[in-house]
Amino acid sequence: MRLSERFAREGGVETVATFREKLLGAARALGFDDVYLLPSMAPAEPSAVDLSTRFTVNVRLAAPLASSPMDTVTEFEMAVAMALLGGIGVVHRNMERERQVEVVRRVKEHPPTRLRSLYAEPGEPCANALARLRDSKLRDLPVVEGGAVLGYVSFESLRECSDGLEPVGRFVRPAEVADVSEIGEARSRLMRGGRDTIAVVSGGGAYLGTLVYQDVLDELTPVLDRDGRLLVAAAVSPFDVGRAKSLDRYVDALVSDVAHFHSAEVLRNARRLASEISADFVAGNVGTEEAVEDVVAYVERVGGLRVGIGGGSICTTPRVTGAYAPTLWAVASARDALEKLGVKVPVIADGGVRGPGDAVKALAAGASAVMLGRALAGTDEASAPLVVVGGRPYKPYRGMASPGAMEKRFAVDRYSRVAKRVPEGVEGLVPYRGSVYSVVRDMVEAMRAGLGYAGARSIEELWTKAKFAATAWRAAEDLGDARY
Ligand code: XMP
Repeated sequence: MRLSERFAREGGVETVATFREKLLGAARALGFDDVYLLPSMAPAEPSAVDLSTRFTVNVRLAAPLASSPMDTVTEFEMAVAMALLGGIGVVHRNMERERQVEVVRRVKEHPPTRLRSLYAEPGEPCANALARLRDSKLRDLPVVEGGAVLGYVSFESLRECSDGLEPVGRFVRPAEVADVSEIGEARSRLMRGGRDTIAVVSGGGAYLGTLVYQDVLDELTPVLDRDGRLLVAAAVSPFDVGRAKSLDRYVDALVSDVAHFHSAEVLRNARRLASEISADFVAGNVGTEEAVEDVVAYVERVGGLRVGIGGGSICTTPRVTGAYAPTLWAVASARDALEKLGVKVPVIADGGVRGPGDAVKALAAGASAVMLGRALAGTDEASAPLVVVGGRPYKPYRGMASPGAMEKRFAVDRYSRVAKRVPEGVEGLVPYRGSVYSVVRDMVEAMRAGLGYAGARSIEELWTKAKFAATAWRAAEDLGDARY
């Protein structure tokens, strides 16, 4: 049956039930707060739980986490951090095509180790440098001017700084820098002791970042491509084949970024786009079994599914349009559809995952990975600038269909389509949470414990062993409560 016929038929009048029957037959679309996981015999210590997974058919992760393609979340720093932490960053598309390509290209060029933008400038007062050393618990710090490394300052060298106002430049001592191609050697040098930082420079000598002793000690599990480069993904509109092709050679996956993928026009365009790229294509967002069936039927080479509609913390879709496919229910529905079709495509749970507990529930419901917006938006590496309100630090966070984000998209992207003018998202501030490295580490640790509670050593084992317990919703039904 042709796509147009299929959609025409589905648009026909429903005759199988009365309106009241339809209402009473409402799908029991459970969300994260409606269910918990029943504790079971833990087969292993949390530290032995394996969280490795697939983001797409060909992209393997060490941790089942992806940062959302939102303009207040994922640009260069977040994408690098996510890959170093074992997950993956999906670079947003609310910028010119050339800039998005530049961001993913830089991620691929970044060494597979954490580099911090941590240095002193020669013109700043020495008291500032001393404060930075104290705050970062470091004994030394590179001094950088205009991209060139001038040397280092240390507590020892700054001892001669008497009034705190003298410029840092007076106290610089020479020491070696490390070429980015010799990161392994630089790490060993730090491990041998004697200093806390090494400035890493490009082949041309330009400062790239500071390698810090403590970061070398912290065991990161970077996820790399076949050439040893960090993994990265980018968001695209299914209508923008040109952008997809420009990004294709630098990314491991291209992630569709439309609110309602289950539309005849989107499916047709996505089918064409997917056939013209070599990176894995993640289709979405979808929220129902029928949508998954149609995606698999019409789009060849689907590498992953982004699942959940209207469940995001900044989404107003349910209120504005009445449409809602709660992420947990959507994940289970998508996974069932895939199992029925015998298709092995990873499901990415997207929207409303507030922390590790929700993430474990999403995995237990059949997801292979979860996508995080708000949970990462308050971190240093999120792409919005820090703001201070009433003496407290925050970071802006906004829906990609919020008025501000839509305005930006139409301004920067001449290929963006003005299909919908009604905002379906809001803008706000989230509390500042520090570095994403500690936020994700804590989350991963809690998720390992969560799998242990559910009796699983791995995500695959969780899929078979997890048992859900419903709270108010199911209990009310058992009691015959008419409100539900
Ligand atoms: P969380 O809950 O992690 O959700 O903050 C992030 C996800 O929300 C989706 N998203 C939107 N949904 N209107 C919506 O209805 C919007 O403006 C919007 N912006 C983002 C998206 O799937 C994201 O990953």
